[in-house]
Amino acid sequence: LDEKKSFKYIILGGGVAAGYAAKEFTERGLKPEELAIISKEAVAPYERSELSKSYLLPDGYATRLPSFHVCVGSGWKRQLPEWYKEKGIELMLRTEIVKADLASKTLTSATGRVFRYQILIIATGCAAVKLADLGVQGANNADNIFYLREISDADKLVEAIQKKNESGKKAVVIGGGYIGFEVGAALRINGFDVSLVYKEPRLMHQLFTPAIASFYEGYYTNKGVKLFKNTVAIRFESSASNNGEVKKVRLNNGQVIEADIVVVGVGAEPQISIFKGQIKEEKDGIRTDGYFRTSVPDVYAVGDVATFPFKGETIRVEHIDHARESAKQAVIAIKAKEDDNSIAIEVRGFKISEYEYLPCFYSRSFDLSWRFCGDNVGEALPAVEDMRVTSTKPRFVTYWYSRGKVVGAFIEGGNDAENRGFEEIAKRKPRVEKDKLAQDGISFAASQ
Ligand code: FDA
Repeated sequence: LDEKKSFKYIILGGGVAAGYAAKEFTERGLKPEELAIISKEAVAPYERSELSKSYLLPDGYATRLPSFHVCVGSGWKRQLPEWYKEKGIELMLRTEIVKADLASKTLTSATGRVFRYQILIIATGCAAVKLADLGVQGANNADNIFYLREISDADKLVEAIQKKNESGKKAVVIGGGYIGFEVGAALRINGFDVSLVYKEPRLMHQLFTPAIASFYEGYYTNKGVKLFKNTVAIRFESSASNNGEVKKVRLNNGQVIEADIVVVGVGAEPQISIFKGQIKEEKDGIRTDGYFRTSVPDVYAVGDVATFPFKGETIRVEHIDHARESAKQAVIAIKAKEDDNSIAIEVRGFKISEYEYLPCFYSRSFDLSWRFCGDNVGEALPAVEDMRVTSTKPRFVTYWYSRGKVVGAFIEGGNDAENRGFEEIAKRKPRVEKDKLAQDGISFAASQ
């Protein structure tokens, strides 16, 4: 084996978790040539959540790399390709690993290169679920159906948006989750006639209460987005005269929508097939403990692929905050173990605490900006300043109240102090009288 292809640490995947793990390694002591990041993408790790937001806006408003390389999303320095070089980190881009042998500690690339590691961090994230896999007819091989996961997908979509701007401008967006919510808005801003199709009775149904969803649906409708709820696409129809491009989307309620462009956001699945049979899995991901150690010694899994302990259960989370924090926790655990090899995690009397996941999500679309932290269980108590769908600056909160405590909170149009207060709510779950909460309204968040 070529010595140069041996590394003390390899991070497989070059996304959000990889970038934040690299930062943590450098802060905790990393020698040149100890760490390699192997990624099939062509660019250094970046804040993936930008791809469905400002990346899709018209020229003049759109963000482009290098502006959103990690770790800008957390207010730190941007890690440009030169940063990795300076730190002696080998950043191997356009390199897909097709085989992993955890027993011999080797990874093999699509071109046959073999890499050896002592410690492996799996950070391969997810791939978009394809409509053809869900049994939708006509969804294969059409040039105008787009998925959004990597920057190369976003570039294809941007090119189509620019091309279609000169011809047809009808877009059908499938899925009422994050991607549908954000891409639907971006396409509308680009002047498309947008139809948003989702099978649930409301947008972002896992998080939004009926009242919250009703506001956003009203706002989107007011902006000209057409909503098709409680329905799914069952067939895409094209004709030979338009190069096999989809022209019509048929729904299960009998409606047919015309389309020049289709964007699909119907979920994602962890990219872990190369580890099958070699590592313990759970809930579609790789099972880890509170330090992101897997069932295989010296192999860690972080970000979207990790299934980890949470309040007596195990969960898998596809969110950017978790990708950042789990990456940090894994590197802390790796370094702690090296400092004192005899004890797994306890180092010189200092016990590293297990990962404490803090659910915190956000989204931006049109002029809207919302944030949620904590748990959405219990009674939902709204506090409204302006919830008009025509408002230029809507502002409202919903608190989730359970057994005398505020356990979760959602805010539209929050300021920095309120957004920070939200994290405190998620962490501490403050006890408060219901009357006092109602009296304080939105200001309760900022006072935390
Ligand atoms: P991530 O997907 O970032 O990185 C995985 C990396 O592994 C990629 O570089 C991939 O190419 C590489 N890889 C995979 N298999 C490989 C192989 N065999 N060989 C080599 N490389 C391989 N979250 C949120 O909280 N708020 C938000 O607003 C959004 N918005 C959003 C928009 C869009 C368009 C997407 C796709 C996702 C979001 N998310 C989000 C989710 C968030 O981006 C996601 O949770 C993190 O990116 C997860 O980080 P990871 O590092 O785990 O995977």
